[in-house]
Amino acid sequence: MVTTIEAEAIEIDPQTQVVNDDGSSFADFTDELNSFTTSVTGSISKYPFENGRRYHAFKSGTYPLPNDELEAERMNVVHHMLKKAIGDRLFVAPVPEPHRILDVGTGTGIWAIEMGDAHPQAEILGNDLSPIQPSWVPPNVRFEVDDFESDWAFSTPFDFIFLRTLYFSVADWPRLVKQAYNGVKPGGWVEFQELDLQYYSEDGSFKDSSAMAGWLKILLDSSRNAGRDPCPGPKVEGWVKEAGFRNVVHQKIKVPIGPWAKEKRQKDIGLFNLVQTLDGLEGFSMRLFTNVLGWRPEEVEVMCSKVRVELKSKSNHVMYDLHVVYAQKPE
Ligand SMILES: C[S@@+](CC[C@H](N)C(=O)[O-])C[C@H]1O[C@@H](n2cnc3c(N)ncnc32)[C@H](O)[C@@H]1O
Repeated sequence: MVTTIEAEAIEIDPQTQVVNDDGSSFADFTDELNSFTTSVTGSISKYPFENGRRYHAFKSGTYPLPNDELEAERMNVVHHMLKKAIGDRLFVAPVPEPHRILDVGTGTGIWAIEMGDAHPQAEILGNDLSPIQPSWVPPNVRFEVDDFESDWAFSTPFDFIFLRTLYFSVADWPRLVKQAYNGVKPGGWVEFQELDLQYYSEDGSFKDSSAMAGWLKILLDSSRNAGRDPCPGPKVEGWVKEAGFRNVVHQKIKVPIGPWAKEKRQKDIGLFNLVQTLDGLEGFSMRLFTNVLGWRPEEVEVMCSKVRVELKSKSNHVMYDLHVVYAQKPE
């Protein structure tokens, strides 16, 4: 016996049944196709590969972290970790109801997309060196390939500019902060969420003699040698004040690595952080250690595996600080 189950008819979206003024009904999906097709030229996505990792092609070599799937997953874990760390929110600044929002160095675009859903009245633009953001996004979210260290050329100022985890990325922080100042409208807000990657512990379990401490020192030194501050967090407040912002608020939040804290929220944050750190170890180190320090890839891998063991140990109660700084441009 054959049972045939008829498929249900697919209902047509009335928006697609466009009738023109003259009664004709010609309309096509050019707009939808255009937004699906990424606006970038081929060269921007001809990504170079090094030691098994994929890197950005536009302004090649300026940013040391990969832009492949593994790194995208890591960035998304960091997104959830940071949201939790600031109280299950996307941002902290008391922005009334933003209409134009810029997400500088958007990464996978996850923050911009969630903002688009949460603020349907707002337009959100995310820019990045890598066009790795998804194509299907809320209609009010747009992504552009851009170098945020070049001169900004936005025609209309923004109500809110958001900059998160741009450590390892920025050669001239005061200039970037000044561009954010010029890019926001009077009365508008900026928010920075930056890390100070310097690990520490409050019970003496983080030892200078550990593999973790050795690796971290090399990582931070090599990024500084490459001219990119890996720990901008504590300095953001100063740059923001220098740029002319007012109503500056600076919050320092401890971020554990590993689920060793007693309190549930801290434990969850720690677990997210352990996952992203284990996933990110090799990506953080590979380009900097091989290109800046001349290590062989195998040496990087050996060091990372030693650090991995320590990171997973229950007796290490390590953390670092997240610095959230928000501020307003004077009216
Ligand atoms: C650690 S990720 C953070 C991504 C995102 N802000 C977030 O918090 O999820 C840093 C991002 O900055 C981008 N980036 C680095 N230098 C850049 C530049 N000069 N112009 C534009 N994007 C840049 C990188 O491609 C990467 O996606």
